[in-house]
Amino acid sequence: MKTNSGFRKDFSWGAATAAYQIEGAVREGGRGPSTWDMFCKKPGAIWRDNSGDVASDHYHRWREDITLMKRLGLDAYRLSIAWSRVMPSGTGHINPKGLGFYDRLVDGLLKAGIKPWVTLFHWDYPLALYKRGGWLHPDSPKWFADYTRVVVDRLSDRVSDWMTLNEPPCFVFIGHLYGTHAPGDKLPLARALRVQHNTFLSHGRGVQVIRERAKLPPRVGIACVSHSKTPVSLGKADIETARQSTFTTDTPASWSDAWWMDPVILGRYPEDGIRANGKAMPKVTRDEMALMSQPLDFLGINVYQGGRVRRGANGKAVEVPYPVGNPITAFKWNLAPDSLYWAARFYYERYRLPIAVTENGMSGTDWASLDGKVHDPQRIDFLDRYLSALRQAARDGADIIGYFHWSLLDNFEWAEGFKERFGLIHVDYPTGKRTPKDSYYHYRKIISGNGKNLPKYRPMYR
Ligand code: FCB
Repeated sequence: MKTNSGFRKDFSWGAATAAYQIEGAVREGGRGPSTWDMFCKKPGAIWRDNSGDVASDHYHRWREDITLMKRLGLDAYRLSIAWSRVMPSGTGHINPKGLGFYDRLVDGLLKAGIKPWVTLFHWDYPLALYKRGGWLHPDSPKWFADYTRVVVDRLSDRVSDWMTLNEPPCFVFIGHLYGTHAPGDKLPLARALRVQHNTFLSHGRGVQVIRERAKLPPRVGIACVSHSKTPVSLGKADIETARQSTFTTDTPASWSDAWWMDPVILGRYPEDGIRANGKAMPKVTRDEMALMSQPLDFLGINVYQGGRVRRGANGKAVEVPYPVGNPITAFKWNLAPDSLYWAARFYYERYRLPIAVTENGMSGTDWASLDGKVHDPQRIDFLDRYLSALRQAARDGADIIGYFHWSLLDNFEWAEGFKERFGLIHVDYPTGKRTPKDSYYHYRKIISGNGKNLPKYRPMYR
């Protein structure tokens, strides 16, 4: 029985991955190509022209990976399904081998006492559908609903935790506006906003399908990327400014949390964002807003970065740069545990949905030392700092139901290829050999005490 250490007794301690980043086997078992297969072939698109062709070879090593998860003591594992493994052309034909893979994976997890949390779409869009218009096509929500039905019909007798989409602004804007992720398009803003709108409609259809067809009572959410703002002091004015700034959308093509979360949770695009996008805004009907804001059971947040603000003389938020020399990860992202504390609080207060941290982690320059071990003291400190911040948010009233460390194992980090290592488990890519890092053992201790032994939360910037 877990102790009540500030985290709920039924708290889910987890780790997360995504299909294209770990599976490999892109031409095996009847899988159809995805936009990421296409994008990786573009010279220069990916660091050193790496690709997910083999990735962490999870498709062949999933049994070993489950054993490692079990030893880690995970309650839950967040995985994603590769749409084009299940439906090679995106619609129509269902690939029994593809579904069979996830079927066995789910059984293996349950046998190990680990709850699968399934993300339906983590960026690997079927290439065949892209060629038919992709997310711009008016039928794209229907395609997503059909695919969801196939997966739910097969797995929902054993899976109860579902996420429709992972980080919409990333695949919508990085993929369709900036062109530096698959499919690599640089669309005009109006078209990119249409993509956004269609993915929201797809999310809504997906939620409906899960609720209509799931055999086990489902818990349904979405995994949003967090861009919360952190107040630089605990003064009321700074906190209020940070909150407002987190939910302000005053530029076109914004990544603001309100712009990406309000439509699917509150059923409205923020007024300030509608004004900022001007003529590029799609025409939106009431029925569409109702469709995209189907009731959810939890809000998934992926927390990596957050800006810092203070209240300026005119009452508006002023960005405050991180101090010179602030610790940074291999990716050059700031160490900022306070961003997790404030993200959890602000989202819980605004949306009143239980919060699952569906991703949080850091990349390090981790390698196997001469002693054969992988020493990653920074990740140990990272876990302590971020998890104590999360526990504090729970103590301060946010309802937090789980934490999924990104990532279980080193994997293909999109345009950064294999340069960034986020895993608790080191992967030697040429051989596929897995070596649990020091942080793996540390996380195991945290899990077994339900967070009881975490240090006291020490905010970094006050
Ligand atoms: C998130 C993605 C995830 C991983 C981490 C580092 O934005 O959802 O797939 O790449 O970043």
